Amino acid sequence: MKNLLISLIVSAGLMSVAHAGDADAGKAKAATCGACHGADGNSLAPTFPKLAGQGERYLIKQIKDIRDGARQVPEMTAFVTGLSDEDIADLSAYYASQAPTAGGADENLVELGQRIYRAGVEEKGIPACLACHGPAGAGIESAGFPRLAGQHADYTKAQLNKFSMDQRQNDGDTRIMRNIANRMHATEIEAVASYIQGLR
Ligand code: HEC
Ligand code: HEC
Repeated sequence: MKNLLISLIVSAGLMSVAHAGDADAGKAKAATCGACHGADGNSLAPTFPKLAGQGERYLIKQIKDIRDGARQVPEMTAFVTGLSDEDIADLSAYYASQAPTAGGADENLVELGQRIYRAGVEEKGIPACLACHGPAGAGIESAGFPRLAGQHADYTKAQLNKFSMDQRQNDGDTRIMRNIANRMHATEIEAVASYIQGLR
């Protein structure tokens, strides 16, 4: 009995070690990702998402889903198929620890974008984005709700369109974003994506 207890404690300890990501190890493993996402996770091309400062829990989930094909990113397949869960934890710890760069919003869109972000569109059943992504777009790490602040508007727009057309379906059992995005008009998507790019 005593031995069983000890081995249970030891294996529980080992499990937590195996799951905690190591940011330094992740930096070395991120070399191949940098071509698209930027060396520190601040991508320059607006269609490649910034990863710097993104929540660790969210990153782990997305990289696993992309590796396993639940979220389809054909450009990335060759780079993620060989990753172990430990590689993914390390990569996620690395990107989460990097400082995100800020972006700017289009002046003509900022008013509508801010209204949607802060208050939603009640008559269409669109909830305020800040409820889950935070007033400054920092996300909620404990819930796995992603950071949005400073993200490229082109990328955000593309994701909202993918959610609305059911082309991004890995959103767990929540379906939250698909239900929201398919109620949004193209102009609303454009405006909120621009506002998010300027959030800091
Ligand atoms: C050839 C370019 C390319 C390379 C190399 C690449 N990615 Fe990506 N990555 C993309 C694109 C494009 C997307 C967004 C696709 C979409 O529209 O959903 C993406 C999305 C992601 C996302 C989701 C971000 C979010 O906010 O949901 C993560 C995480 C990610 N990549 C991590 C990695 C990691 C880790 C590596 C290296 C092992 C890597 N990528 C290599 C192009 C690349
Ligand atoms: C009830 C909670 C909730 C609300 C409200 C919400 N979101 Fe989300 N959002 C989520 C969750 C959860 C995810 C992650 C889905 C996944 O795991 O793939 C997400 C993901 C996203 C993504 C993808 C981020 C990335 O890096 O790829 C975007 C963009 C986004 N939301 C925009 C919005 C906008 C704009 C609004 C307001 C109109 C909004 N969200 C309202 C919960 C919410």
